[in-house]
Amino acid sequence: MALNNGPYVWFDGKFVKWEDATVHVGIHALHYGSSVFEGIRAYETQQGTAIFQLEPHVQRMVNSCKLMRMAIPYSGAELSTAIQETVALNGQPACYIRPLIFRGMGSLDLDGRSNPNHVVIFSFAWGAYLGEEALEKGAEVMISSWRRISPETGSPLGKIGGQYVSNSFVRMEAHEFGFDEGLLLDSNGMMSEGSGENLFAIFGNTIYTAPVGSSILAGVTRLSVLQLARDLGYEVREQTLSRDSLYVADELFMTGTAAEISPIRSVDRIQIGAGKRGPITKALQDEFFGIVTGKMPDRHGWLTPVKLGEVASGD
Ligand SMILES: Cc1ncc(COP(=O)(O)O)c(C=O)c1O
Repeated sequence: MALNNGPYVWFDGKFVKWEDATVHVGIHALHYGSSVFEGIRAYETQQGTAIFQLEPHVQRMVNSCKLMRMAIPYSGAELSTAIQETVALNGQPACYIRPLIFRGMGSLDLDGRSNPNHVVIFSFAWGAYLGEEALEKGAEVMISSWRRISPETGSPLGKIGGQYVSNSFVRMEAHEFGFDEGLLLDSNGMMSEGSGENLFAIFGNTIYTAPVGSSILAGVTRLSVLQLARDLGYEVREQTLSRDSLYVADELFMTGTAAEISPIRSVDRIQIGAGKRGPITKALQDEFFGIVTGKMPDRHGWLTPVKLGEVASGD
């Protein structure tokens, strides 16, 4: 399946055409996954295009570079501007934005710190990650036979390219067995997250999510949803979750930039709650989609408006 990409890629400070944004087979990142990346969404709001939670995403990318010992050739502010310009120039009213920083050519020693780092930003149109239907009816998920990388074997907090081979195993396995997604246990046997989503469980009026100590990626959507849940008056708890607690939860859902807020209707073919999206998940979706479409006020200042077509410093 081809990407429905915008025509330009921001490549080391200049815009190049999509078809010219290529790299050599000898670059370090291609061999060892020495890259960091982000996934950010721009939404079409009633007032025009707006990027959701731009600054937290840029900050996480800066943190990922620190964990990967990669010197970034640009400041966070410069990266933010470049992201906005990419969306503006590419002109897609709603898109998924992929900034990527990678180790380039030089040594193929595993310690590639002397190699130059490169930055690319591109965007493409991307609908609901688990399908429009799953947003309403809920996804069918399995507990993966794979464990989430632990802080002893990697850097779960870092959105680091090579680490995602492990996440690919989870998603391939889930699809192979006919599920929409796989959920991982952490190295202590407690729930961690999905292959590309954080996990929430609801019991009564209390909303639980696994803490950062459960080897999760600190999701930007996760934090946004915790805020929305508090706004709606629910009690929220960041607390370890056992596998069996999922089976008896009233509602389960996953969050992520790609997956947005996706309800779960079954785990390991065991029906969750009424086997469809629950009322609290729906209430959180209504808030989330209300804000990102501009139908509700952006009360937390999460949206960065972008004027399509207008690029100040595009080359
Ligand atoms: C492993 C993993 N967990 C969770 C998430 C959700 O994070 P966010 O809401 O910041 O997209 C992602 C996606 O970035 C992810 O790759």
